Amino acid sequence: MASRVIPVDPFDLVIFGGTGDLARRKILPGLFRRFCQGQMTPESQIIGAARAEMDDAGFRQLVADAITEFGPKDANPKDIAAFLTRLGYVAIDAKGDGGWADLKSRMRDGYVRAFYFSVAPALFGDLAQRLHTNDIAQTDSRIVVEKPFGKDLQTARALNATLSEHFREDQIYRIDHYLGKETVQNLMAVRFGNMLFEPLWNAQYIDHIQITVAETVGVGGRGGYYDTSGAMRDMVQNHLMQLLCLIAMEPPAKFDPDAVRDEKLKVIRALDPVLPHHIVRGQYEAIGEQPDYRSAVENPRSRTESFIALKTHISNWRWAGTPFYLRTGKRMRSRTSEIAVVFKETPHSIFGPEAGSHRNALIIRLQPDEGITMDVTIKEPGPGGMRLVDVPLDMTFAEALGPDAQDVPDAYERLIMDVIRGNQTLFMRGDEVEAAWAWTDPIIQGWEARHDVPKTYESGSMGPDDALALMHRDGRKWRDVR
Ligand code: BG6
Repeated sequence: MASRVIPVDPFDLVIFGGTGDLARRKILPGLFRRFCQGQMTPESQIIGAARAEMDDAGFRQLVADAITEFGPKDANPKDIAAFLTRLGYVAIDAKGDGGWADLKSRMRDGYVRAFYFSVAPALFGDLAQRLHTNDIAQTDSRIVVEKPFGKDLQTARALNATLSEHFREDQIYRIDHYLGKETVQNLMAVRFGNMLFEPLWNAQYIDHIQITVAETVGVGGRGGYYDTSGAMRDMVQNHLMQLLCLIAMEPPAKFDPDAVRDEKLKVIRALDPVLPHHIVRGQYEAIGEQPDYRSAVENPRSRTESFIALKTHISNWRWAGTPFYLRTGKRMRSRTSEIAVVFKETPHSIFGPEAGSHRNALIIRLQPDEGITMDVTIKEPGPGGMRLVDVPLDMTFAEALGPDAQDVPDAYERLIMDVIRGNQTLFMRGDEVEAAWAWTDPIIQGWEARHDVPKTYESGSMGPDDALALMHRDGRKWRDVR
């Protein structure tokens, strides 16, 4: 099954924060892969822009090193050399005049113009304004902004207002890299491309849905940021919320940006407030040489959570009565992200009580081993009567699609190509982000008002025991993750 690569229009992409961590780890190695695949055409150019004084050669060396460290291990030196010729660098002062004339002189007419703001949100306004006053942004130019998009509803509104002074909504691409993951898009293909699932996709047939995004890493070198954020702001408000939306939304009339985003917005607006006893917060303990959470963020009294589990409901016709359980955390047992749609039991068991209780489950695995599994109940093989057993029907994409599954672009590179194509379907709209904060804010304010202290949990576990109890109380359990 050969995957088709359709080249995008030639572009001028400026990466503000071009020497930063995200640029080196994800954006530039990702663009290199798109270049090797022929999707980024050789006429395109990428301009790094940052505060540091550096010339084009210096930036090319930085990118060559980034590709060696974070890019494909089998990168061909000729490809790297060809890619580097497409790169330039401008030292820029986001709050002053320095560098803007140079940047303007490098932009070419007739090419798609995109500006990636891989910088602190405090600079978004300055950059947006200077792109205009220096006559660099055009009416069809695009800007790409990274999370965190605000830290609450008020700051998100202010950011939206600032950006909208200079750019229309259809020029603003708010990245949530989870939407660029292959399986996340497959989720929509599976739901809306098959007759099989949609008729069963509601509270009548589905018992509950659980979403797990578990990481083995700790907060690493990002303690300063993370301690002001926590799992709720860092993961739930955006990544888990987006997964929830795609699972729960009504079928859009077509796969077009506003149709999809309208449906997602309706889900967020229908989310019930979360009751305090339906949330468990945790902080990881030390393991081996690895420090505990509070030491890692250098804040011995920190009350920020590195783990969260919660239960919520969506108050609409489709989902009334079906709970959604969400959990995410750092330093957990394994790096596993999955969505499990757990169906109800059959209304009556013709095999009698000894057959036990069985539930179908559709598991959508984001990582590792992207794929979909359906747990189906069958007869246990062999003599001895009718005993039932649940077995997985497994479709690991790497096996089903063969070598082509290796060429699947990673989330960032796919999303950047969408920016160049002008397709906003996989980006968050301003009202969506605000609605997500409107749901999250009262939860966080509640913790602050109660001086809530997270429970500690063992590193390498699946979070505090209370997270297990959250499900047990309802007669359910979290799926075991590998
Ligand atoms: C980021 C968070 O948005 O997503 C990080 O800020 C987190 O804290 C990361 O580690 C997880 O992304 P992925 O793609 O590795 O699951």
